[in-house]
Amino acid sequence: MKSTILINKKNPWKDQYSKYFNLMETYDIYGNLVKIEENTYSSYLKLKKYLEEKDILIGITSCYRSVLDQRVLREELLKERGEEYVSKYVAFDTESEHSTGLAIDIAVKIGDTYLDEGEDFYTLMEEVHPILKDFGFILRYPKDKEKITGYSYEAWHIRYVGKIPASIIFEKNYTLEEYLEQFGAVLYINKEKNRTSFDVVHEISKLYGIKRVGHTGTLDPMAEGVLIVCIGQACKIVELLTSKEKEYIASVKLGVLTDTLDITGNILKEEKIPKNLDIVGGLEFFHKTYLQEVPIYSSVKVNGKKLYEYARSGKSVELPKKMVTIYEISLLEQNEDSFTFKTLVSKGCYIRSLIRDILEYLNTIGVMDGLVRTRQGVVSLSDTNTLEEVCNGEGILHSMEEVLDYPVIKVSKELEFQIKNGVSIPDTWNICDKVIFKNYENQLLGIYEKYENVLKTWKNFR
Ligand code: DAL
Ligand code: ZN
Repeated sequence: MKSTILINKKNPWKDQYSKYFNLMETYDIYGNLVKIEENTYSSYLKLKKYLEEKDILIGITSCYRSVLDQRVLREELLKERGEEYVSKYVAFDTESEHSTGLAIDIAVKIGDTYLDEGEDFYTLMEEVHPILKDFGFILRYPKDKEKITGYSYEAWHIRYVGKIPASIIFEKNYTLEEYLEQFGAVLYINKEKNRTSFDVVHEISKLYGIKRVGHTGTLDPMAEGVLIVCIGQACKIVELLTSKEKEYIASVKLGVLTDTLDITGNILKEEKIPKNLDIVGGLEFFHKTYLQEVPIYSSVKVNGKKLYEYARSGKSVELPKKMVTIYEISLLEQNEDSFTFKTLVSKGCYIRSLIRDILEYLNTIGVMDGLVRTRQGVVSLSDTNTLEEVCNGEGILHSMEEVLDYPVIKVSKELEFQIKNGVSIPDTWNICDKVIFKNYENQLLGIYEKYENVLKTWKNFR
């Protein structure tokens, strides 16, 4: 189900969308059999029950409408209410989100009758509107947003989008159009073992109803810990976050070597573990910058093909080497057949490869059998949420500037205009590398990069 699907004057309904929505039947206030999307209906019933406890009785006047239904309705209303009314409130046949089954027009029982106009109706609906988000609904055509939505204020038209998008849309005073286009935030996830980084991204994309979601530095399925996930506009900073230094705790099983360099791979050889291994010396030897060979089981591309695809098809390939820096490295625990260490490394460093290199230096073999990313840039494990917390709506949304440790400068309207238009400006602040510009309303305008005495646009957030 695509609960945040956008149907408006620019994005008309297409028949192939119907596969995303399971419709069911119910009755409207007039006793007619009507169709509605399943999740929308169950959330509507919860909303209705909640409001009943507050002595507000709501009912459905209209929900799913096919393209034909919408055409007929528009023609009827043109005759009944005239051109001006229809242009303000009624969509053309293919431009109505009622075709999704996610929209409901509601009426409120006042005295013995259901009303959907008049002062009493509007007063009661103002009580209802702030509650909608708790049940996954938004007021789809709010006051003062006609230019964006294309329709006048409709106090009766509510739209199911899901709880997380609904609460953001409410808090930020967005329309659905603005949410899909402008929203940007960063989640700090504590990825569990046996989940791919892609699974996490996919789940978050579904929860927020936003297609553009990206992670910053893959964690293999067997690895756990800090995974920074960018939503919407924040995808513009994925590259910046990926390049931050990362801290890991890794555990190593000695005496065995696999094709993937970790415990999940196929065993290539087994050897007796030498006595009195100088693990500390081995770790210390790699406390440096060196040229590291990328593991074959990685998604690094050579001639347009991922390395693991070469491995799977048995084709030979020369493994690329990348300069990496091991800023810190120390032993945490050592046993006869295993050890655990902590390290702080630069972008592009593979811990599996580091382990292989350390053990090669010590003339022995071993594989990684556990990996926890404990920090990436300014984000530590203690700052993270589990995916489960995020699913329950308890995930903390971080702003882009919070996760980027660059200075923030607030600028006047005049400079705001220049920054929004990507104009280069003189560096009167004496910046080191990059700087974040915001306006006095705290909106992110852009990230600029220093070139000698000039600051040039790096990312724009118009
Ligand atoms: N009243 C809304 C805009 C519709 O006709 O779909
Ligand atoms: Zn409606």
